[in-house]
Amino acid sequence: MSDTVDDVLETVAAVAPDVRGGLPGRRLTEAGVENPSGESVTAADVHADELFFEALGAIDGVAEFASEEREAVVDTGDGAPGEGDVAVAIDPLDGSSNLASNNAMGTIVGIADESLPAAGESLVAAAYVLYGPITTMTVAREGTVTTSVIDGGEARAVEEDVSLPDDPVVYGFGGRVPEWPDAFREYAREVESELKLRYGGAMVGDVNQVLSYGGIFAYPALESAPNGKLRLQFEGAPIAKIIEAAGGASSDGEQSLLSVEPTDLHQRVPVHVGNEAYVERLEAALAD
Ligand code: AHG
Ligand code: MN
Ligand code: MN
Repeated sequence: MSDTVDDVLETVAAVAPDVRGGLPGRRLTEAGVENPSGESVTAADVHADELFFEALGAIDGVAEFASEEREAVVDTGDGAPGEGDVAVAIDPLDGSSNLASNNAMGTIVGIADESLPAAGESLVAAAYVLYGPITTMTVAREGTVTTSVIDGGEARAVEEDVSLPDDPVVYGFGGRVPEWPDAFREYAREVESELKLRYGGAMVGDVNQVLSYGGIFAYPALESAPNGKLRLQFEGAPIAKIIEAAGGASSDGEQSLLSVEPTDLHQRVPVHVGNEAYVERLEAALAD
């Protein structure tokens, strides 16, 4: 299976430049469809999804492919996840609404050794690509995190054993203040008086700030959306895998995102990730 994980990660790195190269021509075009989460889809989302499906679905050892942009899991091989094969869950373009404003976006990938939807604990690896000033890929595998620069479709490791800084500096909270439940709003008020606001509207960019500087990112439960906005399979679990491997913590408000029971491929989950102290304070605040 380890060879297949290598193949998946190398393929993500190889496809990333084509995703990035396809952005300018799709900056303002809507695809005119909605994704299974009921959100409007940009042409850039569709393009990224097609590129990754074509490349990842062709890998021997990838038995299942699921994407934020596709209703159902696609069987792409004869094997079965967990019997030597893997399942890949992908957010092909994270933060795609940032394309119109030319701000950072990303790709998020979870590699599981059980059928999708899979619990985060079954992730054997997780990665995100950040389309920032530099295209980088951050991977959690076998308990450690490595950040690479993607150069000509090849990942060149630039930082091994990445860990969250001990002294938190930044925070970023999604949703709108009036939509936050009271307990979260009170927690946010405390955090605001301690850390600096860094919120860019793409989870990958905001989480990479937390991984780089220490702090907390959350897209919490909202009054109108008790499960928040982010999807467990395509955003919450893979990002939690990375932040926890980097020495941080994750929570849906009560437990690690890796322990959340998968019930639906597109289930949403409140997401809080970052330094353990801030995640523990969050859980205590919500428990009161
Ligand atoms: P996606 O583009 O894959 O749907 O993800 C967008 C998500 C996530 O990247 C980000 O944290 C969040 O939406 C931002 O939501 P708001 O626009 O409500 O801030
Ligand atoms: Mn996303
Ligand atoms: Mn997306």
